[in-house]
Amino acid sequence: MQPNDAQVVNVYSARHYDADRRLYAAFEDATGVAVRVLPANAEQLLERLRVEGDATEADLIVAADAGNLWRMKEAGLLRNTTTPALEQGVPARLRDPNGAYWGFSKRARVIIYRKDAVQPEEVASFDDLARPRFRSQIVARSSTNVYQLSMLAARIERLGPDNARAWASGVRANFARDPRGNDTDQIKAVAAGEAQATLCNHYYFFRLMRSEDGADREAVSKVGLILPDQAGAGTHVNISGAGVATHAKRPERAVQLLEYLVSDAAQALLAPLNDEFPIRPGVPAAPELAALGAFKEEEVALDALGRRQAEAARIYEEAGWR
Ligand code: FE2
Repeated sequence: MQPNDAQVVNVYSARHYDADRRLYAAFEDATGVAVRVLPANAEQLLERLRVEGDATEADLIVAADAGNLWRMKEAGLLRNTTTPALEQGVPARLRDPNGAYWGFSKRARVIIYRKDAVQPEEVASFDDLARPRFRSQIVARSSTNVYQLSMLAARIERLGPDNARAWASGVRANFARDPRGNDTDQIKAVAAGEAQATLCNHYYFFRLMRSEDGADREAVSKVGLILPDQAGAGTHVNISGAGVATHAKRPERAVQLLEYLVSDAAQALLAPLNDEFPIRPGVPAAPELAALGAFKEEEVALDALGRRQAEAARIYEEAGWR
C-alpha cells in the first residue's frame, strides 16, 4: 500500500452492491484515481475507525441509513465538508446540516400486503398496521435493526413519544410471530400466507421481482407495494450517504469522489443499476421505480433519525417489539 499516493482514494464502505463497484470503476475511468474499497458492515466500520484513530487509511466513509451515518458523526469520525457541487447536488433535507454526511441515493420504507387478503385502501398508512383489523396478521423484523429504529425516530420527531409508543404497541399486538429475519424474509412470509402485511425498504421488493429464482418471482407476484401516508405526512424516506473521514489522508480525493457520487453522470449511471431513488428529483429513477409515480415524502430533519435512535430503541423495548 502506498498511503501517500495522490492517485488513490480509500473508501470504507458498509454498502456492497455491484452498482457501487460500477460507480467506482466509472470514477476511476474519468479521473485516473484508483478507488480502494474496504468492505464491512456499519457496526464493524465504526469499531474499526475508532480503533484506527488518526492512523486510519479511510478517506471516504460510505453507509446506508442516516442512523448509521449519524452515529459515525457522533463518534467524531466524519469531518464537516461542504462545496458548491455538493450543495447543488443534494437537497438540504437529505444531508447533515453541517456537511458531515451527504445523501447520494434514497430509499423508502413501504408496506407490503397480500393481494388476496387485503385491499390497498386498508394499508394506506403505517397507522393501519396498528389497527385491530390486522390482529395476528403482521410480521416485522427486529426493532434493533437500524431501518426500524430510524423509522420510529422520525415518528417521534414528528408526533412525539406517546404517539410512537402507541403505534409500536399496536403493531406489536398484531404480530403473527416474533420478529425474525431481514426485510426479504418479511415479504416472503406475507407471500406464503403467514401474515397479511409487513413493512420493508422498497428495494427488497424490486430485487425479488428481478430474482433469477422463480420462487422469488412467484412470491412477489402475490403481494402489492404501498407507499404509505400519501394522504398524511408522506412516506418515510432515508438515504445512502457518505462523508469525509476526520483523519482522511487524502481529503481532496475524498471530496472529489463524494462530488462524483452526486454528479449528474453518477446519478444517471446509478439509477438503473441499483433499486434506490436518485438523490434529487431532476434525475429519472429506474423505470420500475418511476412507475410508482411521484410521491410525497415525510419531511423530518435527517439528523433527527440519529438523535432519536436511543429513544426509539427504548420505546420498542417498552412495546415488547424485540
Ligand atoms: Fe438494505
